[in-house]
This record gives sequence, structure tokens and C-alpha cells, in this order.
Amino acid sequence: MKSNNKHSQGRVAWRSPSNIALVKYWGKYGRQLPKNPSLSFTLSEAYTDTYVEYDIDPNRAQLELTFSFHGKTHAAFEDKIRKFFMANPDDFPYINQLKINISSQNSFPHSAGIASSASSMSALALCLVHMEQKVYESSLGQAQLFTRASHLARLASGSASRSVYGGLVCWGETEWVTGSSDYYAVPISQGVDPVFLSFENTILMVDKGEKPVSSTAGHALMNKHPYAEMRYYVARDHVNQFSEALANGDIAAFGRLLENEALALHGLMMNSDPSFILLKPNTLSIIEAIREVRDSEDFPWYFTLDAGPNVHVMYPHEVATQARKYIETRLQPFVQDNGILYDRVGQGPSALVWPS
Ligand code: DP6
Repeated sequence: MKSNNKHSQGRVAWRSPSNIALVKYWGKYGRQLPKNPSLSFTLSEAYTDTYVEYDIDPNRAQLELTFSFHGKTHAAFEDKIRKFFMANPDDFPYINQLKINISSQNSFPHSAGIASSASSMSALALCLVHMEQKVYESSLGQAQLFTRASHLARLASGSASRSVYGGLVCWGETEWVTGSSDYYAVPISQGVDPVFLSFENTILMVDKGEKPVSSTAGHALMNKHPYAEMRYYVARDHVNQFSEALANGDIAAFGRLLENEALALHGLMMNSDPSFILLKPNTLSIIEAIREVRDSEDFPWYFTLDAGPNVHVMYPHEVATQARKYIETRLQPFVQDNGILYDRVGQGPSALVWPS
């Protein structure tokens, strides 16, 4: 990045959605590098809007940072962002000249069990890259700007690297995806049957309590996990199997893999030391009901889980009307406070205009 040594001020803003992993990232090393490749669908309705005001002054000696979330200061998040800047000085040569005010809001409730770090950190990364482009007039092309945004998002939160793109996204090196990398995510635009690009993803909130294990602590559980190496092997194999199911439009194979990945993630947590059981009785009731409807009605819907008790139910857009009926009659009784969020595969982030 070419420093221009002049005082620059400005504003940038981005909307970035969360994503749901098909093949889970669980286990990392070094500077936020994944132990296995992961695949995800970027969502549409669950997003973070982030507004950044910046002032880069060559005479400033130290980073000045404020962060507010839904209009209120948020010390924990501000601290996370400060650490992210400080831990990566090579990526931010201008850091001590920067004064930055960040304000952000989510379209979904905090308790939704949606990976809010994925949407928030990808939105912030996109703002930073946009700011750099304006201040330093870099010669990076569009694709390189997104690659850098994904790289920065990864350094803040691994899953955020994937939210920089819409549709199906891969983070981590795999033979299946040319150009894939452990350092940043890449969008997968070919070899995917269109049925998957309009897939529905409905989030059923089972428990709105705080998670008893942070994702950082969760990843650390894999360091001494007796099944770790086998897990990474299986995850790689699942990426290959998903590639076939996605290319062939094979919804049943896709669903089998999807559920297997979700249960593998929770199985790993359950037999970690210390052990965590994040599933709640109602999580299992929903899973049972999904499988029961699928088997008895031959209905093509499947579930996945994040590192929490809430259930993501996924189905093709063509069966959405019937799926809503089943959700209301069969699944809603197990949901807390009517916490149902209808979402779907989305197009990815977009720049926002500042409110006047
Ligand atoms: C279970 O990306 O939240 O959602 O890199 O420590 O911020 P950090 O972890 P994070 O982990 C996400 C784990 C997961 C699976 C996934 O999204 O791939």
C-alpha cells in the first residue's frame, strides 16, 4: 500500500450478510488458518450494516477508535476490533495515523444464534478496504479488493472470510476449487446446480441464552481432541462429496452430508475435554420432526446447526409454501418466543450510502 502522507478524511459503509456453513470450520492454527476447507451459503436477510468515519493524519501517533452497536458503546466488541488491528500490524501500516468511528447494527436479534461475527467482521473488512482504496488510490482491481477484504475478515473471524461473497463460498485449500486458499475465501460460481442457489434457510430459535463456549475456545478444543485428524480428513472428503451433490442437483445427497456435518460438529464438542453439550431437548425434537416429515411425506428438507442449539432448516425454494405449513404446525411448538427467521441464499455484501 502506497502511503500518500496527506491528511484524509471520509466515510464508507457496507452491508454484509451472515453465512451458514455446509462443511464446518472447526479447528484452526497459526494466524487464523483453518485445519480443513469449509463451504458455506451466504444468507440474505441476516446482515450487519457498518458505518465507518475515518481520519488518517500523518501527525497522529496512536490509533483512536470508537465502536457503537445499535447506537450504544460496546466495550467487548471495541476491544475485539482493537486487538484485530494491533495483532496484524503488517496489514495496517497506517494504523497509528488512524482515527476511526465505527457504528454498526444487525438485522437479526443477538440471540438468534446466527454467526454475528461473520456478518460484522466482513462488513468491517469491506469498509476498511474501501477506505484504503479511497485514501491510497490503490491500483487493485475489483477481484483483488474482495480478496483483500476476505483476508482481513479472516484475520478478525474465520467464518467472516466467507461472507465477503454471495452464493456458495469456499474457504481453505481444496482440489475441487481452483484458486482456493487458506488465507481467503473464494466464491464458487460454476459446477453448482441452480436449485441450490435459491435454497431456503429458516432459522428456528430454540434457546436465546448466551453460548457457554465462545468460538475461539471451541476451536481450541480441537488442539488436543483425540479425533481431530480423522475429523479433518472427513471434512476434506465431505467437500469432495458436496461438490458432486451440488453439481448433480442431488438434494438427498446434499441433505445427508449437511446433517452429518452438523452432528459431527456437535459430536466433537460433546466428547471434547472439557465437554460441551449445546443441543437442547427442543433442538432434538425439531430434528426428529424434520426427519419424521421427510420420511413420511417424502419431503425434501434437512437441518444444519451452528455452534449452538438453534436449528437451520434448509429446503428448495419450490417447496417453500408447504415447508412454511410444516414449520408452523410441526416445528413452531419447539421454538422459543416465536423465534423464526425466514432466510435464504443471498447475493452477498453491498456498499451503503450514508444516511443524510
Ligand atoms: C461452528 O468463525 O466464529 O460456525 O475464527 O474464532 O472467529 P473464529 O471462529 P468462527 O467459527 C465458526 C465456527 C462454526 C462453523 C463455521 O461457520 O464454519
